[in-house]
Amino acid sequence: MCPYKKTSVLAVIAAAVLAAAVPCNGGITSSFVRSPEKSGDMPLDSDVFKVPPGYNAPQQVHITQGDLVGKAVIVSWVTVDEPGSNIVLYWAENSSYKYKANGIKTKYKFCNYTSGYIHHCTVNKLEYDTKYYYEVGVGNTTRTFWFTTPPEVGPDVPYTFGLIGDLGQTFDSNTTLTHYEKNPNKGQTLLYVGDLSYADRYPLQDNTRWDTWGRFVERSVAYQPWIWTAGNHELSYDRTIGETTPFKPYSHRFHVPYKASNSTAPFWYSVKRASAYIIVLSSYSAYSKYSPQYWWLYEELPKVNRSETPWLIVLMHSPWYNSYNYHYMEGETMRVVYEPWFVEYKVDVVFAGHVHAYERSERVSNVAYNIVNGLCSPVSNPSAPVYITIGDGGNVEGLANNMTEPQPKYSAFREASFGHATFSIKNRTHAYYSWHRNQDGYAVEADSMWFFNRFWHPIDDSTTAA
Ligand SMILES: *[C@@H]1O[C@H](CO)[C@@H](O)[C@H](O)[C@H]1NC(C)=O
Ligand SMILES: *[C@@H]1O[C@H](CO)[C@@H](O)[C@H](O)[C@H]1NC(C)=O
Ligand SMILES: *[C@@H]1O[C@H](CO)[C@@H](O)[C@H](O)[C@H]1NC(C)=O
Ligand SMILES: *[C@@H]1O[C@H](CO)[C@@H](O)[C@H](O)[C@H]1NC(C)=O
Ligand SMILES: *[C@@H]1O[C@H](CO)[C@@H](O)[C@H](O)[C@H]1NC(C)=O
Ligand SMILES: *[C@@H]1O[C@H](CO)[C@@H](O)[C@H](O)[C@H]1NC(C)=O
Ligand SMILES: *[C@@H]1O[C@H](CO)[C@@H](O)[C@H](O)[C@H]1NC(C)=O
Ligand SMILES: *[C@@H]1O[C@H](CO)[C@@H](O)[C@H](O)[C@H]1NC(C)=O
Ligand SMILES: [Fe+2]
Repeated sequence: MCPYKKTSVLAVIAAAVLAAAVPCNGGITSSFVRSPEKSGDMPLDSDVFKVPPGYNAPQQVHITQGDLVGKAVIVSWVTVDEPGSNIVLYWAENSSYKYKANGIKTKYKFCNYTSGYIHHCTVNKLEYDTKYYYEVGVGNTTRTFWFTTPPEVGPDVPYTFGLIGDLGQTFDSNTTLTHYEKNPNKGQTLLYVGDLSYADRYPLQDNTRWDTWGRFVERSVAYQPWIWTAGNHELSYDRTIGETTPFKPYSHRFHVPYKASNSTAPFWYSVKRASAYIIVLSSYSAYSKYSPQYWWLYEELPKVNRSETPWLIVLMHSPWYNSYNYHYMEGETMRVVYEPWFVEYKVDVVFAGHVHAYERSERVSNVAYNIVNGLCSPVSNPSAPVYITIGDGGNVEGLANNMTEPQPKYSAFREASFGHATFSIKNRTHAYYSWHRNQDGYAVEADSMWFFNRFWHPIDDSTTAA
């Protein structure tokens, strides 16, 4: 049923030093030379994995948006000694009145691992733009955190999203998270583009590495929502150890408000937050024509009201436009199905992970091909999104540093370094985007772009236009 099995170590990335910028057809290949070494996972006794003190203390506390519009939060945490309580006590800043919300608990087995008690509690009917404190746990081992609700959904509400993908739990991961936290352009909510713990790389996919990951990221995600996307490392599928339910650890540990957007599965859903409409897609669930995800997206896109939420953002794990020799063309089958809609509905930006490097595309589309007409190359298209690969969180698999040459025209900027990004919406026409590599000081921007909204201000915002 669950034999001990050594997981095959995936191909180790060749330790080649990045070539300096070469003349090419496309945009910029950064000449920044990063040491290609990768750091291993932080050891189990690391400070960031410390179990909070006290009997049955809540750990791995994390929050995400709990409804369609940002007036609810899902609070999740784990207790290990006993079930404890599913209650969240919460109160607005400066208010002495404490509200109580009751949640649920679950647990699961994975091979020879048994999880702790995983609690999920939706806190509803919050006021917009308000700081709330919340408390979980019972007796003398309660823990208190806080979050700030977003402003009311509306067209000119400034809001800053952070972006991290493929984080894992190495020393590099810790650097990425620290840089995100210390970035002076403070992210208020994080858009996470998939591949969380990389626990599945351990023998028997040792799920204690899900617990360490939960404790590692708590310092951020207990205080601001992370909007979750599922990646291939969330599949956790291994027939040889009898684990054949896709997404088992992920879906027990990370609840999302998918029913609020009429989704029928937690892997694709949408939320509105401030001036943004965020659509999360699943690269690892069926997406072909007539699939549940297909029908959901088909009904979803016409609902986006750009007068209410000007900014249309899509998250997925596997990128459609990528010019690294890693996962090359893996997003192609999904692109073929959905790209015409992205152009029709003028998606502003698509964020993906999976490739452990950074890349930003031009506004391009590739939707003209009909098998016989030969029109199969991407072309410049002002109604198309910018595609950004931000899978550079720093996980144990190391950097993707082998790029296709010459740099394709659709690629505006690419660099094999770990880092994170922020997307700062200013109003309905302008958003400022910047990417930060880990080697730099916290405020340094290694790549940046002013985004002009595709609905309200659809003029050329390319950074490389001649
Ligand atoms: C919690 O309370 C119990 C019983 O009152 C006590 O034995 C224990 O030391 C306390 N734990 C902490 C962390 O204060
Ligand atoms: C709460 O109190 C603090 C300190 O007195 C004050 O700065 C803050 O504006 C108050 N917040 C609200 C929502 O009243
Ligand atoms: C699961 O089995 C592996 C291999 O025998 C062992 O190293 C590990 O400690 C076991 N884990 C648990 C929780 O029993
Ligand atoms: C992780 O980063 C934090 C913040 O910079 C630091 O306090 C901590 O010691 C680091 N832990 C490890 C294991 O590197
Ligand atoms: C979900 O479906 C119901 C019933 O068809 C509809 O009333 C509701 O408006 C839908 N919600 C969203 C967010 O589309
Ligand atoms: C779109 O949103 C605007 C602003 O909130 C609102 O006035 C308008 O009625 C909405 N349109 C539709 C079709 O719901
Ligand atoms: C880069 O990838 C290409 C295509 O997969 C491969 O042929 C080449 O050997 C790789 N180069 C290095 C240095 O790994
Ligand atoms: C929107 O924000 C941009 C960038 O901050 C600014 O230049 C522009 O004037 C703003 N538009 C309006 C209508 O305020
Ligand atoms: Fe991935």
